[in-house]
Amino acid sequence: MTSSATTRRTVLFAAAALTTGCGSDDGGDGGTSTSAPAGTAPAPSTRAAASGGTPLAKTSEIPVGGGTVFTGKKVVVTQPEAGEFKAFSAICTHQGCIVNKVADGTIDCPCHGSKFRIADGSVAAGPAPRPLPAEQIDVSGEEITLA
Ligand code: FES
Repeated sequence: MTSSATTRRTVLFAAAALTTGCGSDDGGDGGTSTSAPAGTAPAPSTRAAASGGTPLAKTSEIPVGGGTVFTGKKVVVTQPEAGEFKAFSAICTHQGCIVNKVADGTIDCPCHGSKFRIADGSVAAGPAPRPLPAEQIDVSGEEITLA
């Protein structure tokens, strides 16, 4: 008798564990980001690879000697010289803020003042410890897409 009661209790316990396991394990899909102030997107390169190229901008939207920040995609595209386009992660390597401005040859972070060079993403002014990582883009005619 006791063994069947134990078995039944065990089964009920297991079912409850499964139910609570499903309900509480909602860590999200892209939960490896340590910055994630908005917490909405996985790494842009991962998403772009899955979709095979995400339209980003027209070349005319990127000023020569400057750049444009695409906050939603967390990418900044620059044009250091006419016809030469570069792309970098827009996530600051200091504490993960999104850079918000391109001016005077640098990509600027609003949080603590880090500046990154538009030509290669290298640090022009700290406290950022590392360059902005490069992102892959394709430029075809007027279209710039995330590769
Ligand atoms: S997070 Fe960009 S300078 Fe601190």
